[in-house]
Amino acid sequence: MPDITSPAIRWHGNALSLLDQRLLPGQTHWITLHTAAEVAEAIRDMVVRGAPAIGIAAAYGVVLEARRLDAAASAATLADAFAVLAASRPTAVNLFWALRRMQENAATLQGQPLIAALEQCACDIHTADQAMNRRLADFGVPLLPEGGCIYTHCNTGALATGGHGTALGVIRSAWAAGRISGVYAGETRPWMQGSRLTSWELMQEQIPVTLVVDSAAGHLMQQGRVQAVIVGADRITANGDTANKIGTYSLAVLARHHGLPFIVAAPLSTIDPQLASGAAIEIEERPGNEVRGLQGNIIAPADVHVANPAFDVTPAALITAIVTERGVIHRPDADKMAAHLNEVSA
Ligand code: MRU
Repeated sequence: MPDITSPAIRWHGNALSLLDQRLLPGQTHWITLHTAAEVAEAIRDMVVRGAPAIGIAAAYGVVLEARRLDAAASAATLADAFAVLAASRPTAVNLFWALRRMQENAATLQGQPLIAALEQCACDIHTADQAMNRRLADFGVPLLPEGGCIYTHCNTGALATGGHGTALGVIRSAWAAGRISGVYAGETRPWMQGSRLTSWELMQEQIPVTLVVDSAAGHLMQQGRVQAVIVGADRITANGDTANKIGTYSLAVLARHHGLPFIVAAPLSTIDPQLASGAAIEIEERPGNEVRGLQGNIIAPADVHVANPAFDVTPAALITAIVTERGVIHRPDADKMAAHLNEVSA
């Protein structure tokens, strides 16, 4: 199978290389991994991040383990690898979706046929993601107000996916179509995905981006400088409630107060029909030092008590539209979500 390359993930057949997103934009450094445990660690430590990219990396982690086991590879011998990858981060459902797809292959095969099937499945997950993002973007562009300036949060671009991006993919396509005038990127404390990654991605393509502190969002909306908000998602439940990077819920409340569209862009692999509502989503709690400091430099009292939820849940009632590669769900609720999913599997 030929190597598969996307902006942050490279598959070489016997190894997985990940662009170390913790070091961007200052350094472009690739890390090469050979085991499922190494991939799980890279996911947990934010070398690779963003829901679709986490799913792709985890799928390759299973292949690496199967190759290591060689003739002994089977559903039983791979069980530990699946478990260690599943334990890496809890909130983005794309991780569990990708592992489930891989597990379906492991059910009946063993040894070389299993390894070949797993590699094919992981490569399919990787290559399909970019194509899905482009379809999603085509559906998303008309949702953005003509000539508007768009606020986005975290990083949902090529780095977070197999390429192009979800919310940032819509922004990219909208800019290429001449539909929008520019972008505000919130810096996204504490990992600064907006500051380090989104502004960098947009600048590379000469898309006008203005970086702001997260707490500037309300002020910008009040002044009429933002015409819509678009974000990605880590898990969307059966009723349309959406978990995404911490701070997303506040943006949705602000958008509603100011009468602005609040749009969620995510592939179908981010929808978790097993969970009835956002109340059931596990929200990852990350280490306190991520909040006490910035990039390892502690600035708060070293022993201050910290809460560091990495995600929050935006109720469906605050969402103007969810856009997937299948189309647009306006004013999402449980019935519309079910209809959208049924349409897909028909
Ligand atoms: O903690 P992260 O950087 O993995 O969080 C990423 C987000 O919250 C993104 O908005 C989401 O995963 C969608 S990425 C297309």
